[in-house]
Amino acid sequence: MEQDMWDSLWINCHLCTLQDDGLGIIKDGAIACQGEKIIWVGPFSELKASPEKLAKEIYDLNGSWITPGLIDCHTHIVHGGDRIEEFNLRLEGASYEEIARAGGGIRSTVKATREASEAELLAAALKRATALQSEGVTVIEVKSGYGLNWENECKQLKVAREIENHLPIKVQTSYLAAHTIPEEFHGNGDGYIDSVIEKLSELKELGLADAIDGFCEGIAFNPEQIEKLFKSAQKLGFNLKLHADQLSDLGGAGLAARYGALSADHLEYSSEQSVKAMAQAGSVAVILPGAFYFLKETQVPPIAAFREHGVPMAVATDMNPGSSPCCSLLMSMNMACTLFRMTPTEALRGVTLNAAKALGISDTHGSLEVGKSADLAIWDISSPAALSYYIGYNPLQQLVQAGKTIVQ
Ligand code: NIG
Ligand code: FE
Repeated sequence: MEQDMWDSLWINCHLCTLQDDGLGIIKDGAIACQGEKIIWVGPFSELKASPEKLAKEIYDLNGSWITPGLIDCHTHIVHGGDRIEEFNLRLEGASYEEIARAGGGIRSTVKATREASEAELLAAALKRATALQSEGVTVIEVKSGYGLNWENECKQLKVAREIENHLPIKVQTSYLAAHTIPEEFHGNGDGYIDSVIEKLSELKELGLADAIDGFCEGIAFNPEQIEKLFKSAQKLGFNLKLHADQLSDLGGAGLAARYGALSADHLEYSSEQSVKAMAQAGSVAVILPGAFYFLKETQVPPIAAFREHGVPMAVATDMNPGSSPCCSLLMSMNMACTLFRMTPTEALRGVTLNAAKALGISDTHGSLEVGKSADLAIWDISSPAALSYYIGYNPLQQLVQAGKTIVQ
């Protein structure tokens, strides 16, 4: 019996399948989709019949490259207001930590986020998500963390989930109530963490969060508080993530690894011991060069140690109003290479395969593999490294999400 015709087939293209230790390149490849999934991928020469006999729709790409849809695995795109005033203060010499300790920083975004309606937050988030999507992003992670009370944290997560109803983009959510101590709990971090923990089972029932996140830092929560949160979250079956070792080494990455976290993020100050613990746990190191750049930090994350110990590295925008107002994942890839000396191959793995791992969705996303979601980013470039090379130039030619073309 003749096989059913595939929905679509891309030919005359080169593929980054991500199916080996590098980029899994197939020159002169072909890839086919059926419904929402990839149904065939391989060298063009191995197609069993001529394209017209195989697929209803055929795209001849004339030598373009196809990568998996990009994944931005760390964002805070749902938030109210901006922090342009704080940007000015920093340019006049105030540091990020000084501003935070004086009640600004995250807390000023908390005020703006609490004051915003769901509709306002959604409208602003959609603009940011659209900017990411225009550069080939098909999956984003979105954190709460600017509500800092039950009602407003839920408001942020609901808005994050709502994005999928307005844009063809997949959203994974993280509950970041442990982002900083809100004013109402001033001087009582322990009390605040207890109030966050109290709500975890209700959060689980509501299905609003795919992971629990926290900020382990002098200006946020200490390791003991984070550990208490992780213990409870783990019992309820949540995936874990952690903002760790961004401004100092509190051993946050090691702590995240001990609890089997999907990822530890930032990591500028992580020790070799923490890196080894991450390797053992299989936690992903999420590298956030946008925050390093925007805060004009000087301590670079231990990239060589991650490499040496085999810790998978992801790259993300960390899009947020305070430390990384960056809506470009391509720019983040460039910064990972120029500022941290990651290779373009590492950067591309970092926004595909390893970003999927950091979100716990590698069964369905992050590579061009039969059975995975048909998320294809099609690029008018001469080689994959071009994606890390350009600054402010977008070579996206076509974007397919779950089998549907959304940018052409
Ligand atoms: O990922 N590091 C902590 N949280 C955010 C920034 C929060 C803010 O300044 O608004 C980050 O960089
Ligand atoms: Fe962040």
